[in-house]
Amino acid sequence: IRHTDLLFQIVPDPDPEAPAGATVTYVTSTLTVERNVDGGPSPGIPNLELDGEELTLMEIKVNGQPLPWDGSAFLLTAESDLLVLGKTIEAASAGKGDFTLQTRVLIRPESNFELSGFYKSGSAYCSQCEAEGFRRITYYLDRPDVMARFRVRIEAEKAKLPLLLSNGNKMATGELDGGRHFAEWEDPFPKPSYLFAVVAGDLGSIVDSYKTMSGRDVRLEIFSEHENVDKLEHAMTSLKKSMRWDEEVYGLEYDLDVYNIVAVNDFNMGAMENKGLNVFNTAFVLAKPETATDTDYERIEGVIAHEYFHNWSGNRVTCQDWFQLTLKEGLTVFRDQQFSADMGSAAVKRIEDVRVLRARQFAEDSGPRAHAIRPESYMKMDNFYTSTVYEKGAEVIRMYHTLLGAAGFRKGMDLYFARHDGSAVTCDDFRAAMANANGKDFSQFERWYLQAGTPVVTAKGAYDAALKRYSLTLSQHTAGTVGQPSKLPFHIPVRVGLLGKDGRELVPSTVLELKEASQTFEFENVEGGTPVPSLLRGFSAPVRLKVEQSDEDLAFLMAHDTDSFNRWEASQKLASQAILAATEALAGGGTPAPLAPTTVDAFRAVLKAGLDDTGVDRSLLAYALSLPDELTLLGEMDVMRPVALHEGREHVKKSLAAALKPEFMDVYQALDKDVPYLVTPQEIGRRRMKNVCLSYLCTEKDAGAVALASSAFQRATCMTDSIAALACLASLPGPEKDEALEIFYTNAKGDPLVLNKWFSIQALADLPDTIDRVHALTRHPDFSMKNPNRFRALIGAFANSNLARFHAEDGRGYVLVADMVLAVDKLNPQVAARLAGAFSLWRKFENTRRNMMKAQLDRLMAVGDGLSRDTFEIVSQSLLS
Ligand code: ARG
Ligand code: ZN
Repeated sequence: IRHTDLLFQIVPDPDPEAPAGATVTYVTSTLTVERNVDGGPSPGIPNLELDGEELTLMEIKVNGQPLPWDGSAFLLTAESDLLVLGKTIEAASAGKGDFTLQTRVLIRPESNFELSGFYKSGSAYCSQCEAEGFRRITYYLDRPDVMARFRVRIEAEKAKLPLLLSNGNKMATGELDGGRHFAEWEDPFPKPSYLFAVVAGDLGSIVDSYKTMSGRDVRLEIFSEHENVDKLEHAMTSLKKSMRWDEEVYGLEYDLDVYNIVAVNDFNMGAMENKGLNVFNTAFVLAKPETATDTDYERIEGVIAHEYFHNWSGNRVTCQDWFQLTLKEGLTVFRDQQFSADMGSAAVKRIEDVRVLRARQFAEDSGPRAHAIRPESYMKMDNFYTSTVYEKGAEVIRMYHTLLGAAGFRKGMDLYFARHDGSAVTCDDFRAAMANANGKDFSQFERWYLQAGTPVVTAKGAYDAALKRYSLTLSQHTAGTVGQPSKLPFHIPVRVGLLGKDGRELVPSTVLELKEASQTFEFENVEGGTPVPSLLRGFSAPVRLKVEQSDEDLAFLMAHDTDSFNRWEASQKLASQAILAATEALAGGGTPAPLAPTTVDAFRAVLKAGLDDTGVDRSLLAYALSLPDELTLLGEMDVMRPVALHEGREHVKKSLAAALKPEFMDVYQALDKDVPYLVTPQEIGRRRMKNVCLSYLCTEKDAGAVALASSAFQRATCMTDSIAALACLASLPGPEKDEALEIFYTNAKGDPLVLNKWFSIQALADLPDTIDRVHALTRHPDFSMKNPNRFRALIGAFANSNLARFHAEDGRGYVLVADMVLAVDKLNPQVAARLAGAFSLWRKFENTRRNMMKAQLDRLMAVGDGLSRDTFEIVSQSLLS
């Protein structure tokens, strides 16, 4: 399909029974189709099968001539696709290679609760096509390697829908009879259907402009509902920073005259990179200090950048098929990570990314849904927008960068864009560009695209004092995953340094290339006794590192490592060891041993550093004080015991809080300042560290904690502090939490994003009756199954982030979540399928839980045909062994 002409007519619903104001949409599509003479069986012309879903065909023409409806020219298949028969094409295109195919279909955006295709969010109409939503708009070859030039005309009632947008540049606007109007858009860049977008609504906006490095002016506009226009500034600033950064770092420039972003409240994912017309979940656009936290601000900057960077890594060069999704997603996540690292603190950003990877991706990789970053099969592509494809995919790109260095990586990127601009390509093409531009062999590296599972790298060091030689033996092993029982060794970059006992760096960072199952690397002239190795610096590969490290070595690394990531890593390992030991003691009915003095001293040193006012990065300190995630820790257990783990972790937290109470209090008070809200790394760091101290000071659930958290809540002047205090309070006994929740609710004044926080805080509370509260909240007037953000704020938070309550002994958490999967599956299968993933690791749990989780999966399976394909895929995969 070379040209795609679309006419959208949003008109009153012709059904006399329809409620006042209800609409339907007619989509007329005129496709210029070119016969691919190389393809297809000969002799004869094969049928042309166009994808379609929930479309009502009204009219069909070839070369302007209506086709007969008697089955002789076209058919609608059982899968609801449109089959244009070969003989129809033969007649239409005789003598030349192309013909036009016109269809007119009726669609119903108002009852499209799947939020895929063309749907309504609030009073606005919008679209989401990736991965396979375009077929819900019109009949099409809905696959990423079919790239066409689009021209779009939208017609609607002017008073209700004054704004009409699509991709590319606006070519014409005008009035029509009956209070209607139209706009025409043309996108000069051929694109696959998944990048198409259309918006019609009554929205407000802010406008800015950007001059590209070659001097072209681009008009930037960000749209939202009128009442949210005061929350768009941060997104605009982020967009301009992203545009500048991509020019400076990659030499990549924007290519259209306009860049539009529309924020909608109902959206399945974070955002979508449609050419020249991004559509965003409001959660990743709207921010002001009273409604958004520091993390929200950071996330908005990151997602705005991500979608902008897709214009090159995704749109200009796209995927040949959906198996290649990581080609654009892994690469674009890596680029947005680099950007955020440059905008703030690189070490902090790296820590945040690794925390997410370990919690979510490692879990995925350890269960029945483990898949390589380039998956082998799928039933619903939407189920493969996973942490593996995205975050592990970004780690794979990062490894090229680590192996080639910044300059070599840039050469590879330049070659990739030079070779493939304007086409739909594969991960192999990317790998070839990296290899060819640098003359480096990346053949073994292919295994990262082929094999699922997290490699375990074991390190053993030995020092020969006489020869002053340090040898480091690195071994790798990757456990089998479903369908892939045995694995070949990966090509793993391991960045290492050696530190002397006096804290000096004896061997600065070097990258070792581990390619065999086991290899020994020698370091000569290592003076001054057995060194302390600092391994996998910056987390140079997505692996689990196993190395014997004493508490003393870890405390030493925490204090002296020159690699700030590994200073943090040491703190996490020290804490993990203590938590896992305490958990084991508790699970066996015993009492945990007291914390080692080394551990307490190491944490004391971090707190002390927080009092230093000479430019220390307090975000780094705050993360060093934060205990590892429960989900990450669960992954370290041979048999998962979530409640014992939760208690073990609380025990360690309480012990640290008790041992260091005056220190926590000192830092808390020193950093608890009434100053204007600024989103700078310094101020974010101050708030982050202060709030970590507050949470330690609240672990002993006593009156002192209630008083402290209540006071913090009352004095809070920004959402960051308000939510931090409320999170503490929500898990404490007494009526104060309910009063605070009430105040928070009232202050929200119906703001949907703030209300989401209100739901989440309650779902995450560490209270014996949390499940009852969640149950009650499902009946709250502000709860909705139709809004993915709201649904995830309550149910997603409970199932994925309150492990002790979701996995409670009585099994009620499981029943609740399975009930919710079933209920939401009828409206929005993508959201249901995500939630169903909460059961996928069932085999790894101790027996009681394992059986209860399996029972819920069986219950979902038993629904049979009533289950969406999305949810069926997740549930059936979870049951595989
Ligand atoms: N390409 C979008 C992004 O990462 C995400 C689209 C997800 N769509 C889906 N159906 N899962 O920026
Ligand atoms: Zn993306």
